[in-house]
Amino acid sequence: MIKAHKIYKSFQSGAVQVLKGVSLEIADGDFAVILGASGSGKSTLMSVLSGLERPDSGTVVFGNQDITAMNDKQLTEFRRDKVGFIFQQYYLLSHLSVENNVKLGADLAGNKNFREIIEQVGLKGKFKSKPSELSGGEQQRVCIARALAKNPEILFLDEPTGALDEKTGREVLDYISRLKSERGFTMIMVTHNENIAQMANTVIRMNSGEITEVYKNNSPKTAFEIGW
Ligand SMILES: Nc1ncnc2c1ncn2[C@@H]1O[C@H](COP(=O)(O)OP(=O)(O)OP(=O)(O)O)[C@@H](O)[C@H]1O
Ligand SMILES: [Mg+2]
Repeated sequence: MIKAHKIYKSFQSGAVQVLKGVSLEIADGDFAVILGASGSGKSTLMSVLSGLERPDSGTVVFGNQDITAMNDKQLTEFRRDKVGFIFQQYYLLSHLSVENNVKLGADLAGNKNFREIIEQVGLKGKFKSKPSELSGGEQQRVCIARALAKNPEILFLDEPTGALDEKTGREVLDYISRLKSERGFTMIMVTHNENIAQMANTVIRMNSGEITEVYKNNSPKTAFEIGW
């Protein structure tokens, strides 16, 4: 369970108030989607929930660990051991092959089976390719493999399909959701695509730094059943 309580976060010494008292609970194994207009604070909330940034006030608790009370070293270890990230931009290391980009993630967790996950995201023939030799969807699948090679307990995705066309976007979402059902990690995904909310168990809507709506979806659809 992830529990955020009254999170406030501002930038520029308080001049820009971005999160204004956000509280939420996300159950283990949940797939939560966060929707909201540009600038509403979605990425900032993801950074605070994942321990990349500290809130001005409020708490974020994972299970029984209060990450807002951790020192920098503890927080770094927490992110390394528990958390995976996938962003809109791929952030792959351009001079490394697919295999070595994923190995970087795997090494953090001492995971020797990272080749298997490259195969699971459909990149069996691309082990030695460099990111520049791959399509956008393939690069995003390398990011999925890299994030999951760490065996995270929770996966944060910020607009993972934002740079992809419809067909590729659906394929990437399908890979992610299949890996999720096999491994059972928790997933929190920010998206502008309202249709993707139909794949989630929990839908959270933000506006101007506040949560305005939370609802459960009892019959999630697959990546190929939703509109786009
Ligand atoms: N490091 C920062 N310094 C100053 N302002 C920031 C910083 N990070 C975010 N902001 C501001 O906080 C507000 C919310 O930004 P955030 O990136 O969380 O929005 P978002 O909902 O993710 O938007 P988008 O959908 O466009 O990605 C914006 O007005 C942004 O300019
Ligand atoms: Mg954002």
